Amino acid sequence: MKVTLSVIKADIGGYVGHSTVHPECKDVAIKELEKARRTGLIIDYRVAHAGDDLNLIMTHKLGEDNKKIHKLSWDIFCHATEVAKKLKLYGAGQDLLKSTFSGNVKGMGPGVAELQMEERKSEPVIVFMADKTEPGAWNFPLYKMFVDPFNTPGLIIDPNMESGFRFEVHDVMKSKKIFFDCPEEIYDLLAFIGAPGRYVVKHVFRRNDKLKAASSSTQRLRLIAGKYTGKDDPVMIVRAQHGLPAVGEVIEPFAFPYTVAGWMRGSHHGPFMPVSMEKANCTRFDGPPVVVALGFQLSEGHLVGPRDMFAGPAYDRARQRCNEIADYMRQQGPFEPHRLPLEDLEYTKMKDLMEKHKKRWKKI
Ligand code: F6R
Ligand code: MG
Ligand code: MG
Repeated sequence: MKVTLSVIKADIGGYVGHSTVHPECKDVAIKELEKARRTGLIIDYRVAHAGDDLNLIMTHKLGEDNKKIHKLSWDIFCHATEVAKKLKLYGAGQDLLKSTFSGNVKGMGPGVAELQMEERKSEPVIVFMADKTEPGAWNFPLYKMFVDPFNTPGLIIDPNMESGFRFEVHDVMKSKKIFFDCPEEIYDLLAFIGAPGRYVVKHVFRRNDKLKAASSSTQRLRLIAGKYTGKDDPVMIVRAQHGLPAVGEVIEPFAFPYTVAGWMRGSHHGPFMPVSMEKANCTRFDGPPVVVALGFQLSEGHLVGPRDMFAGPAYDRARQRCNEIADYMRQQGPFEPHRLPLEDLEYTKMKDLMEKHKKRWKKI
């Protein structure tokens, strides 16, 4: 049986400010997804959050990009927005950029990661959800998981991984895609994905059988709306084990608190903090950027789980280091590289400043 795991998310209003999702908004999603489960539209579901983003995790038989699943998600976000408006939550309906649904939530604001699969004998999957950052934030860990033997010894030990992995990379500025076969093309791959604001890993495939191993969300709200509307706060699905990176290899990259773009006003670099869902509430300087990892075993499309993979003490040290890095970076205030370079600032009054001071600039 082919099962599709769809993770669709939106910021429909923050509680308090941009810090987390209000429980009443989650209740709306649970109620409506339960109804969809009873009617047989979906097999199973979970409702989750990371910071101020409401995440719908659904399984069904309808494949990727299915209109009914996207419409279900869109309607839930609209109804949750009504609750958010009633409670006067902050930025209610922030990610719902279009007023009418046109068949697919892509390009309308919500983020989407979907993965259709033939369920294996045992199918461990990890759903990653982030807040206060952008889809390119997954580039670094995907590289580590699927290409770097220092992270994933399976690449040299497991004969089923010997053929390597194929990366589908999107240029989100130009809406173009390209494939890189690894390990032979890692230098070229890195030249692109090392610029995560523009080049984003969309999918990873195992090369010997084309099995799709990972899928991420790649929308850029700013490019959709033409102005700042909040960061894209990405999600990602990664399958694990038996010829793929082991669960421990999939979550290992997050033990190193690498820096990502986002944080306060979508305009600062900061350390990416792995946290439990319970603790995924953005506080300090509206952050720091957080990542939650929910692990499931799929069983005939049923979601067995979640296990909250970053909840345990093994990630305490990463969190501690994040706090130290945050202290260090925060002291640089409005100076780069803590603040993003001018062209990447999500909020800017530079244009107004240029105008205001244009007569005061003299030739050198
Ligand atoms: C970042 C984010 C927040 C807001 C900040 C200002 O993605 O959502 O850091 O940018 O709280 O919000 P406004 O402009 O709505 O006052
Ligand atoms: Mg928000
Ligand atoms: Mg958010």
